[in-house]
Formats: sequence, structure tokens, C-alpha cells
Amino acid sequence: MHTAAVVTVSDRCAAGVREDKSGQLLKDMLEAAGFTVVHTCIIPDERPLIGQTLTDLCDRLQVNLVATTGGTGFAPRDVTPEATRDVLERHVPGIGEAMRAASLKVTPKAILSRGISGIRGRSLIVNLPGSPKAVKENLEAVLPAIPHGLDILLEQDGDCGEKPHLHHHGHKHDPMHK
Ligand code: MTE
Repeated sequence: MHTAAVVTVSDRCAAGVREDKSGQLLKDMLEAAGFTVVHTCIIPDERPLIGQTLTDLCDRLQVNLVATTGGTGFAPRDVTPEATRDVLERHVPGIGEAMRAASLKVTPKAILSRGISGIRGRSLIVNLPGSPKAVKENLEAVLPAIPHGLDILLEQDGDCGEKPHLHHHGHKHDPMHK
């Protein structure tokens, strides 16, 4: 069982002028995937505050997966990727690559999300865009692989192979058993 935190980065949600639907959806999706969501918060688009929040969740609360939503676009105050980069120890580019590849099949605007992902200590941080639609489409593209990545990070599983296929017809024609 892995723990997760949801960080909504939005000036308007933090000010209470917009409802945080994306954070709620993210929490629901993570719980449906088997994560225990131990912390949620809503913070404004301030780079040092975002960095401090991520650091606290990774270093003090030791949350396995820290998912952010919002602040990944081109607006002048969108700085979530920069704040995340400030605190990452190792980048995981495949997560962003998979999210944008999947999202491009849905909308050409997928390339406008600058979200990054990576590892700090024993935590994985994943940036998601701000809208509920984008959260769903992006998270679905990467969620299936994340528990295995966390198992390796936490040294709970060193084997990346698929589960062995059981043959019910003996090994006579199995080239691996010649
Ligand atoms: N990805 C998917 N799958 N679906 C979307 O609707 N919206 C895009 C993009 N990624 C979108 C998406 C848009 S319009 C923007 S501006 C960027 O995410 C950045 O979003 P953010 O600034 O809310 O983080």
C-alpha cells in the first residue's frame, strides 16, 4: 500500500474564488488505484511556497507519491515545473513523455503543459495540468506503471519482469526448455 499527497496549485482556488474540482478528482483517482491519500492542500502559484510544500511532503511526511495539479502552462504565474525542478534529485522524463504523447491524441494543446516528474528521497513527484479533464487524461496514461516504480524506489521489488506465463501443455515445445 502506497501513500499519496495531492497538491493543488492555483491562485484562484487558494483564494477561495474557484472550487478545487481537480484536486478532488485526483484524490478519487489515486484512491481508486489503491493509494492512501494522507494529505491534500491548496496553495497559490508561488515558487518558494510550492518548493517548501513538496519538500515537506517528501522529507518530513515521507509520502510515496506527491501529485500536483495546476500551474504547468504558459501563464506568467505558472511556475509549478520550476518549483518542482528546484527540489528534485533525479528526473523521470518518461512520465511527462507518456502524458504528452497520450494527451496529443486528444488535443493539440497537450504540448502546452510543461509538467515534469522526478524523485526526491523515497518520493516520486508528478506534475499534472490544472483542469479536471487534463488530470484524468494525463494521470490515466502513467498511473499503471507508478506502483511498480515506487516498489523499486522503496526496495520492495527488484524484479521488473512480467509474471511468468504458465503453460499447461508441458515444456516439450517451449524453446526455453530445449
Ligand atoms: N492534456 C490533456 N490530456 N487534456 C487537456 O485538456 N489541456 C492543455 C494541457 N494539457 C489539456 C492537456 C492546456 S489547454 C493547457 S494550457 C496545459 O495543459 C496547461 O495547463 P495548466 O496551466 O492548467 O497546468
